[in-house]
Amino acid sequence: MLDIAFAKAALPKSGVLAVPLAEGAPLAGLAAALDEALHGGLARAMQAASFTGKKGQSATLLAPGAFKCLLLLGLGKDPTSRQFEELGGAAQQKLVKENEAVILADTLDATQAAHIALGARLRAYRFDKYRTTQKEDDKPKLAELTLLVADPAKARAAYTPLAAVAEGVELTRNLVTEPANELFPEEFARRAEELKKLGVKVEMFNKKDLEKLGFGSLLCVGWGSARDSYMVVMQWLGASGLGASGPGAGKKPKKPKDPIAFIGKGVCFDTGGISIKPAAGMEDMKWDMAGAGTVTGLMAALAGRKAKVDAIGLIGLVENMPSGTAVRPGDVVKSYSGQTIEVINTDAEGRLVLADVLYYAQQRFSPKYMVDLATLTGAIIVGLGHEYAGLFSNSDELAEKLIAAGKETGEKLWRMPLAPLGESYDKNINSEIADMKNIGGRPGGSITAAQFLQRFVNAKPWAHLDIAGMAWSSKDTPTTPKGATAFGVRLLDRLVADNFEG
Ligand code: BES
Ligand code: MN
Ligand code: ZN
Repeated sequence: MLDIAFAKAALPKSGVLAVPLAEGAPLAGLAAALDEALHGGLARAMQAASFTGKKGQSATLLAPGAFKCLLLLGLGKDPTSRQFEELGGAAQQKLVKENEAVILADTLDATQAAHIALGARLRAYRFDKYRTTQKEDDKPKLAELTLLVADPAKARAAYTPLAAVAEGVELTRNLVTEPANELFPEEFARRAEELKKLGVKVEMFNKKDLEKLGFGSLLCVGWGSARDSYMVVMQWLGASGLGASGPGAGKKPKKPKDPIAFIGKGVCFDTGGISIKPAAGMEDMKWDMAGAGTVTGLMAALAGRKAKVDAIGLIGLVENMPSGTAVRPGDVVKSYSGQTIEVINTDAEGRLVLADVLYYAQQRFSPKYMVDLATLTGAIIVGLGHEYAGLFSNSDELAEKLIAAGKETGEKLWRMPLAPLGESYDKNINSEIADMKNIGGRPGGSITAAQFLQRFVNAKPWAHLDIAGMAWSSKDTPTTPKGATAFGVRLLDRLVADNFEG
């Protein structure tokens, strides 16, 4: 992990310095002092490298004066918090082979400096748990990044909640990256239980509990697996003050008032079941629990920064395997809502899991808003690629709030159609034998999946995020190394911060 420190602005005499520079602005503060110390060498180097401070621009100067290295980074004009994060990520990458480095952030405000720190920390994430033969030279060296700022205490205060969000992101990335032999439903539930340390109330429902409740839809997905299915309910009650470490700690928790519910698909491995998937690329289905991983990381983030919100996280944890006990195409199951489902394709399992968890969330908590996340369909990747997650909502208001949070965090959403019950998209999932079937044919596959979910949603505002194209990245991006992205943690943390606190 990358340690972040904030220190009082004073120009170092040597070492490695990163210098963020705004486009078209004269050198100021420590950067001006640096230029003076180098007898105008900074300005000359900028000219020689045609460095103007454009967004994303960078230039490296080796051994100027007594310094080992100077890294110039362009901030562009009127940079947003996202741009500061991207600059932090770029700095981390360029400096990863240095033992330590300093960023001149004295002309920025505390929030801007904190976002640089967040970007660097997010980009520094690694999952090396299963590597035993890596050479020292191939490992990153940068262990501490120091930001020189006008007011270190203020910058630290701005960074503290962001660090909690980074921890949530890291937890999600760890969960999503774990292979399915290590992270099966019970083990996932145990990891979620660790959120108790943060003051989150965590309840684990095992297979027996779910049978008693009547979760016939969720449970049928796990019939073929040697691993039992689970549901975990996490409550962070930061508004009603009932969090285990909040002002109401120790008091008997009442029902949270008007909470926000976050629901995640947690298919720890998706073989497709009897409707088995082709071999090529099936290993990707270890991350078919990314929705649940994101909800878990989000709850850690909200609790870690003591968000003033009552938030409930609910995750359905199963493994979809073919075997002699597996659910068959044509089987009919009864969901927790009472509605019956004909399982036409056992690979359309995510919606079967979410159906019961969504219904349970409403029955028990009557949430004011409900957002689910799921790597639900390959079709959303065909439609939107890896740029946007699909957003489906019965509420324009909630959809707009989500889209705005997406723009701020760079976790972008594109709204897709959703029809009222009984209208054409919805009709595709009517069954000849049961109340509905679990697939509607190839056309509009992501939409019929959302229509299926909507049959388990009462009239309250709800949004479904199909993150199949966003949960895993095959290439590095400014603040996310390739692999698990934790898409949704920062988005939903921002949704809460902007709309549901205080
Ligand atoms: N987990 C998959 C969707 C998926 C595909 C996620 C690729 C990430 C990458 C989901 O359970 C699934 O198999 N969906 C089927 C639905 C179909 C059978 C209607 C699909 O998309 O092919
Ligand atoms: Mn599937
Ligand atoms: Zn799946």
